[in-house]
Amino acid sequence: MKKVILLIIIILYGLPSISKDINSTSPNGNIKISFCLDNNGVPSYSVSYKNDTVIYKSFLGFDCFEQINFKSGFQVDKSQELTVDELWSPILGEVNTIRNHYNELKVLMHNKEQKLNIIFRLFNDGIGFRYEFPEQGNKNDFIIKEEKTQFALKYNHKAFWIPGNYDSQEYCPFTTTLSEVRKTFIDNYGEVSGTFYSETGMQTPLQLKTRNGVYINIHEAALIDFPCLTLDLDDTNYILNAHLTPNAIGYKGLVQAPFSTPWRTIIISDDARDILASKIILNLNEPCKYTDTSWIKPQKYIGVWWEMITGKSTWAYTEENGSYKLGETDYSKTKPSGRHGANTKHVKEYIDFAAKHGFDGVLVEGWNQGWEDWFFKKKDFVFDFITPYPDFNIKEITEYAKDKGVELIMHHETSSSTRNYERFMDKAYKFMVDNGYKTVKSGYVGPILPLGEHHDGQWMVNHYLYAIKKAAEYKIMVNAHEPVRPTGLHRTYPNLISNEAARGTEHPVNPDHTTILPFTRLIGGPMDYTPGILEMDISKINPRLDGQLKWVNSTISRQLALYITMYSPFQMAADLIENYKRFPEPFQFIKDVAVDWQDTRIIEAEPGDYVTIARKEKSGNRWFVGSTVDENGHLSKFKLDFLDKKKKYVATIYKDAENAHYKNNPQAYVIEKKNVNYNTVLKLKSAPGGGFAIMISER
Ligand code: NOJ
Ligand code: CA
Repeated sequence: MKKVILLIIIILYGLPSISKDINSTSPNGNIKISFCLDNNGVPSYSVSYKNDTVIYKSFLGFDCFEQINFKSGFQVDKSQELTVDELWSPILGEVNTIRNHYNELKVLMHNKEQKLNIIFRLFNDGIGFRYEFPEQGNKNDFIIKEEKTQFALKYNHKAFWIPGNYDSQEYCPFTTTLSEVRKTFIDNYGEVSGTFYSETGMQTPLQLKTRNGVYINIHEAALIDFPCLTLDLDDTNYILNAHLTPNAIGYKGLVQAPFSTPWRTIIISDDARDILASKIILNLNEPCKYTDTSWIKPQKYIGVWWEMITGKSTWAYTEENGSYKLGETDYSKTKPSGRHGANTKHVKEYIDFAAKHGFDGVLVEGWNQGWEDWFFKKKDFVFDFITPYPDFNIKEITEYAKDKGVELIMHHETSSSTRNYERFMDKAYKFMVDNGYKTVKSGYVGPILPLGEHHDGQWMVNHYLYAIKKAAEYKIMVNAHEPVRPTGLHRTYPNLISNEAARGTEHPVNPDHTTILPFTRLIGGPMDYTPGILEMDISKINPRLDGQLKWVNSTISRQLALYITMYSPFQMAADLIENYKRFPEPFQFIKDVAVDWQDTRIIEAEPGDYVTIARKEKSGNRWFVGSTVDENGHLSKFKLDFLDKKKKYVATIYKDAENAHYKNNPQAYVIEKKNVNYNTVLKLKSAPGGGFAIMISER
């Protein structure tokens, strides 16, 4: 990886400090933190932005089992400061070069029993802090009961949130004040049960807005070998308390010192665009671990998928009742339902279509045995990831795809039998290599096996990373669905090409969903949102309408915009071939749009209302602009001052027609071509639930 170190100044001083307040400031002076110990030696911190406190005095530390004390009685031994200013380049990304500029404060402490360090990094757009457990004198292994980190907000901020849950992030976000969280939870989910842990539980990334118009985003970075952080709101004092995901017996992190926790992050700005442009999460992750990354490629793909999501066809080969067992069921003796999507003939149609229209890959789900009896069954052995159904001729399909210059994208639904996946993982990846597959979409539907573990627990956090590292041994890229929410690990392991970890196109969502996701889920990393739906009325695909999705709440123009606003170097054109044939003009945009970028400008953004982003393609000079808006519609006015001053351009604008509406007229779009340059100001009106997409090329 190209890494240019501009300047590193190290000021290290080992003041044996008894002074209780230790302060630090961001390079531009806007953000200040203050660390102190109270009379009981309990550590705390506070944060101010432009001289206003945004995080009030908040405690730090851990409750542990077995008399281990990482909470109180601390004394500061010394503090150390460090300034780093460097540039680095992501393998795939939104920009070519990222500046990592921060002031670091490290506080080293001890109490009677333990040693604990807390490291703060202050960037111009926020802070990160982590706990470091140095090697302890006596006992180096300990079990966390709860993390006691707080984020004291003091006021009743507006929040864009999904309920706290140990297993899923696939919820529609709520926009409420903090005081409304509990009632909103009760009204929508009743009582706390299953993996909801509290009426006031909230997941990260959590986007907040103060009454003074300051945006605060709370998340974590570099989640490795630790449970995922969630939050529990004290709605009397407006304090967010850390709440870690437990393991099967309630432990919240098994730690062996020396160990550093993931970073707790707070992005802060009075301009919402800075939240979207922030690179704090990536900067707090380690540089790329791989020396050869030539095999990691951005991709645009289509797939045998939407037809199953909409219920037009099935993953399963047969609909006969029976007892299906891995390795024992002889599918050649079962009666095919005639609705199995992943059959050789149909897959070849997809390969033809991909080849004709320049797509890199074809995802095929339901190609392998086991789909008759997998859903929420808590079964250990369901899939082996290597045995195709009788109507999926892997050899013929592999050769056909190779001839046409198209790559097949593998699908590993694990049914959350993680143990079984690990059992077969080497064989499964080798099978991919043997058949020319370079990317896998994996999935974790249903309760985790071993039972009692959670999608977001330490055990699964370790599994997801194990799968990514193991895939790298085979030069395989991974796009995991139902994973723990991303925390920037794609910097370190760039074969983590994308993730789901939020409610995607396959579920009903509100029109404001895609104006919130960039502020929440996407803060952690790219999302496989699966845009590109041109037929919103699902009854036209499956007249029985027996799935959960009946209508996609979006206009066509907004579907195009999502390729730009929902960053991912792995983007699907999710709709059916027949719908792309019906709408060749918007389909042309999907073919044209890039997925890897050299530059990104956030043009305008307000969570819950609108997001407009411009990006310049990595391997050329075209710019693409996308805008997604909520149910109220929006008028955008912006100057194309990101264009090269010396060049002339032509813009192809795909926008909502005057009478377009996500509910009843989503396919009304207008295409406009016009000459533009650096000085051009565009005024574009988006319909309710709409948006626009623009391609700007040199002329
Ligand atoms: C859930 C995934 O999000 C979806 O895309 C996939 O098709 C199903 N699981 C089946 O694996
Ligand atoms: Ca999913």
